[in-house]
Amino acid sequence: MIDQFKEVADAVRLEIPKNHRVPVAIVGAGGIVDGAHLPAYRKAGVKVVGITDVDAEKAHDVAKRHGIEKVYDNLDQMLEQSQAVIFDIAVPADTQPALFEKIAKVGKNILAQKPLATTVEAGTAMADLVDQYKIIAGVNQQLRFEEGVAAAHKMVELGWIGEVSNFSITVNLITPWELWPWAKDLERLEIMLHSIHYHDLIRWFLGDPKTVFCVDGRTKGQYPKGETRTISTYKYAQGVSALVHANHVNRGGDNYAEYRIDGDKGSIRGTLGLLYDYPSGRVDTLEVNSQVVPTDGWMPYPVTTRWFPDAFIGTMGSVMSAIAIGSQVRSSVRDNVNTLKLVHALYRSMDSGKSIDL
Ligand SMILES: NC(=O)c1ccc[n+]([C@@H]2O[C@H](COP(=O)([O-])OP(=O)(O)OC[C@H]3O[C@@H](n4cnc5c(N)ncnc54)[C@H](O)[C@@H]3O)[C@@H](O)[C@H]2O)c1
Repeated sequence: MIDQFKEVADAVRLEIPKNHRVPVAIVGAGGIVDGAHLPAYRKAGVKVVGITDVDAEKAHDVAKRHGIEKVYDNLDQMLEQSQAVIFDIAVPADTQPALFEKIAKVGKNILAQKPLATTVEAGTAMADLVDQYKIIAGVNQQLRFEEGVAAAHKMVELGWIGEVSNFSITVNLITPWELWPWAKDLERLEIMLHSIHYHDLIRWFLGDPKTVFCVDGRTKGQYPKGETRTISTYKYAQGVSALVHANHVNRGGDNYAEYRIDGDKGSIRGTLGLLYDYPSGRVDTLEVNSQVVPTDGWMPYPVTTRWFPDAFIGTMGSVMSAIAIGSQVRSSVRDNVNTLKLVHALYRSMDSGKSIDL
C-alpha cells in the first residue's frame, strides 16, 4: 500500500525545480498576496523582484516584511524596469482584465487571480491575448494543486475507484466577509468569489456538465448584500452527477468542508482544513476506499501540506514549468473561460429558477 501511495505522492509534490524558477513581479499587495502568495514563494525558493499597488503604503509594508527588493510606482514602471519573467496579478476581478492586457501586450507571462474576469466576454478576450502575444498564462485556481485534492485526482486517473459517478462538495462556514469591504455590495458573491474554486475543481475531474441548476440563499443580518448560500447541481451524460452546497453564514458554530467522489469500484473522501478555522486552518485530510488497490475499508492518505499557502506553489510552478519545458498549464486562461461560463450558467439558473444547458 505504501508503495502505491508513493506513485501518488510523487505526482502531487509541491516543489518547483531550481532550473524552472524565474523572477516574479507582483501587482497588488492585498491580503492574499501577503498571506498566501509570498509565503508559498518563499517556501518554493521563488524570487520576487518587485511589487506595485495603487495603495503605495501597502506595497511598501508588504515589500518590507517579505524582503522584496523594489516597490514600483505603477505597473508601467514595473514593466519597463523590472527583470521579471512572470507578472503575478492579485487585484479585484473587475480591475484585472486591463492590467492583464497591458502585461500581455509587452509579451510577459502572467499568473492571474480568480475570478479571471467578471464576464465571459472579458475572460475570452484575455485568452485571445494569450494566443496573440504567445505568452504563458495561468489562473490561480490553486485548489487543483491542494495536495489531498491532487492526490484524489491521481487516484481517479489510476482507476482506483473505477468510473466516477458523482462528485459532491459541502461546506458550512462562518466566513469573515468584513475582511473584503470591496465585496460588501457585490451582486454576485458566493459563487463568483468562493465556490468558483469548487466548480473549477469539478470541471477538472469530470469536464463540463450538460445541464446545471442552482438556487441561492441569504441569512437575516448577514454583512454582504450578495448570495451567501448556493446549492448547485450538475447533470452529465450516463447518470454522472455533481453537487456543490456552500453556506457562509453558519450560526451553528460547526464549520465543515467536505468533498466526496464516488465510483463503481470505490470512493474517496476528504476535508479542506483551512475552512474549519479560517485563516489559520488545520490539516487537510484524504481517505480512499478502493476495491481495485484494494484497501481494507477506508485508508487514510497522509496529506502533509495545505490549500493555503502551499497550493499556491502549484499554480506558480505550473506557469514556470510551461515556460521552462513546454508542459501544459494545469489551470490555463483558456480553460478557465469555461469555468467562467459555468459560473454564469449557475447565475442564470439562480435568476430564472430554471435549469440551464451549457
Ligand atoms: N485564489 C484564492 O484562493 C484567492 C483567495 C483570496 C482572494 N483571491 C482573489 O485575489 C484578489 C485580491 O484579493 P485580496 O483578498 O488580496 O483583496 P485585497 O482587497 O486585500 O487586496 C487587493 C489589492 O489590490 C490593490 N489594487 C486594486 N486595484 C489595483 C490596480 N489597478 N493596480 C494595483 N493594485 C491594485 C488594492 O489596493 C489592494 O491592495 C481578488 O480577485 C480575490 O478574488 C483569491
